[in-house]
Amino acid sequence: MDYTGSSEIDTRKVTTLRLLEMKKAGQKIVALTAYDALIARLLDESAVDLILVGDSLGNIVQGLPTTLPVTIEDTIYHTKAVVNGAKRALIVADMPFMSYQVSAEEAFRNAGRIMKETGCNGIKLEGGKLVVDAIERLTEAGIPAMGHLGLTPQSINKFGTYKVRGTDKEEAKQIYNDAKLLEEAGAFSIVLEKIPAELGKKITQDLKIPTIGIGAGPDCDGQVLVYTDMLGLTVDFNPRFVRRYARLYEDIKNAVIKYGDDIRKKSFPSIDESY
Ligand code: KIV
Repeated sequence: MDYTGSSEIDTRKVTTLRLLEMKKAGQKIVALTAYDALIARLLDESAVDLILVGDSLGNIVQGLPTTLPVTIEDTIYHTKAVVNGAKRALIVADMPFMSYQVSAEEAFRNAGRIMKETGCNGIKLEGGKLVVDAIERLTEAGIPAMGHLGLTPQSINKFGTYKVRGTDKEEAKQIYNDAKLLEEAGAFSIVLEKIPAELGKKITQDLKIPTIGIGAGPDCDGQVLVYTDMLGLTVDFNPRFVRRYARLYEDIKNAVIKYGDDIRKKSFPSIDESY
C-alpha cells in the first residue's frame, strides 16, 4: 500500500481499540465518508483511519433531499463496495432511518445483518437516550456501535432545520448527558455534528472514548467530512465547517468538455490511440 506523504502512518488495520489508543496518545483520527470501492481505495491509500459509509449516500449518490429513504439494502450494497476497496481503515456503516428505532432487538437484527453481509467493522446510529438499549444490545453481542449527537440529519422532520445544535444551555446539557450515556452503554466512539466548539471540547475531555467532530470545533479526537464536500465535488453545500482541498467539480467538468471538444473536432482518437 502506498501511503504517499504519510511516512509516520501505522500500516496495521485500524481497530476500535486502536482508536482508543490514538485518543490516549493525543493522535488525531482522520475520517471521511465513502460509498464505493474506488474512493474507499483512494482514501485508504491516503491513510484515512476511519471510513464511514454514511447514509449521506442518500444525498450524494442517490440525489435525495434527505437521508430518510435510504434502506438497509442500499447500506449493504455500498458498504460491501467500500469493504472491497479498503484494507487498512476501520469501516463503519450508518444504520438507516427506522432500522434501529423500533426496538433494541430490531436494531440488533439489522446491525447483525449489515455486519454479516458486508464485512464492515462497526455501525453508527443517531440519537442519545433513545438508542442506549440498542447500543448495549449490540455491544454485548460484539457489534461495535458508534453514536451520533448534535445535528442528527435523520431527525430533520422533528427539528425542521439543519442549524447548529446545543447553542442554548438546556440543549447543550442534553447533548453532554447523552454523550455520557452512550459511552456507558458501550459506544466505541461518538460523532459530534454541528455543535459549539466549547461543547465539543468539554465532551471530548470528559469521555474516555474518542469523539469525531464535523462542525464541532478543533478539540474533538478526530474529524470527519463528507468526501465530496472536501474535494469540491458538491458545490451547492457550503457550511462553515467544510474546508475544500480540491475543486473536482470544475476539474471534471473541464475535462469532460475538453473530451467532447476533441471528439467533435476529430482529434480523438488519434492514430496512436487506435489499433
Ligand atoms: O451520513 C453521514 O455522512 C454522516 C456524517 C456526516 C457524519 O453521518
